[in-house]
Amino acid sequence: MSRLLEATNLNAAYLTPEGREVKAVDDVSLYIDEGEILGCAGESGCGKSTLGNVLALTARPPLYPISGRITIDGQTISLDRENKVPRTWRGEVVSMLPQGALNSLSPTARIRNLVGDVMKAHDAKMGKDEALDRARDRMKELGLPPRALDAYPHELSGGMKQRVITVISTLLNPKLLIADEPTSALDVSSQRALVEMLREMLNQGIMKGVIFVTHDLPLLKSISDRIAVMYAGQIVEVASAETIADNARHPYSTALLNAVLAPEPDTLVKRVEGIRGAPPSLAKPPSGCRFHPRCGLVMDICSAKQPAPVGTDLEFACCHWTAQHPDQVIRVEDVLARNDEVEE
Ligand SMILES: Nc1ncnc2c1ncn2[C@@H]1O[C@H](COP(=O)(O)OP(=O)(O)OP(=O)(O)O)[C@@H](O)[C@H]1O
Ligand code: SF4
Ligand SMILES: [Mg+2]
Repeated sequence: MSRLLEATNLNAAYLTPEGREVKAVDDVSLYIDEGEILGCAGESGCGKSTLGNVLALTARPPLYPISGRITIDGQTISLDRENKVPRTWRGEVVSMLPQGALNSLSPTARIRNLVGDVMKAHDAKMGKDEALDRARDRMKELGLPPRALDAYPHELSGGMKQRVITVISTLLNPKLLIADEPTSALDVSSQRALVEMLREMLNQGIMKGVIFVTHDLPLLKSISDRIAVMYAGQIVEVASAETIADNARHPYSTALLNAVLAPEPDTLVKRVEGIRGAPPSLAKPPSGCRFHPRCGLVMDICSAKQPAPVGTDLEFACCHWTAQHPDQVIRVEDVLARNDEVEE
């Protein structure tokens, strides 16, 4: 299988009004093979959207890329604070379906005009009629009526707008699509249609890979080939969806995902209890392993030294305990053992 994405040592920060840098993507490396859907999970504030924007080269002030290298489908770009992006990169090489984009549609333009705008902005080779035909077909696949093309955004429901945005962000057949919470405004059947459309576009080679960010963990497991788990601006584990569900190799993944994803029914008790506390402020993250203040498996080394990834480019975990106990299962109750000490 060929490699679609090679992103190495990505760093990006928000510049605060006081002039301080808050590093929200910290030395992240990520690889995706052609045809894959990579799910991305992590509590709120862990950096999923920020990483998406860095990969899609859609970072806007106060977010600045600092360093790193991204290769998508053989084309490479190096990141720096200047943030200069070749015109053909966005939309065609990589496209971002942004989180909370429902209100980003211009209220005074019909959807067909937005389609025209995308073509103009990207200087696309496709003619406008062809683009409208493509948009109409994809809207149909997502259960939208043809009249949606002539509607103004305020005439569409939230779920319809979300589907329109999905169509617009895939219009130029990007090699890699980053879909950030694309299903949160959709009912179950619309969710299914969207996921089926993305899978179909992958199967037909129209797109070559998808990063799918969601808090809907059962959905994440069902659609992902592999899952990347983020904590405090870093990827702490990447593994197949099955491994993450049944035998995650990072205590944070275990606590975050196992209780929800493990098979019924003995998990009902675990479901009630999650990890107490919240991810740390990225302005001053904990030393060593950033999860150590909340981790029941914590050892002396954990606050002293950042754990290195153990595994391969495609499947790894960054945890001292796992490195020392490669064959032992991580028990969720052991990870949550410090819950009483952790403040909500
Ligand atoms: N404008 C900003 N200035 C400073 N820090 C910011 C700014 N925007 C976001 N951050 C920080 O960046 C971190 C990552 O935020 P991000 O939105 O990427 O998280 P997320 O994982 O996508 O969360 P969610 O699941 O809620 O969408 C957060 O800790 C947040 O505090
Ligand atoms: S065992 Fe240590 S390194 Fe592993 S997650 Fe817990 S605190 Fe981090
Ligand atoms: Mg987000």
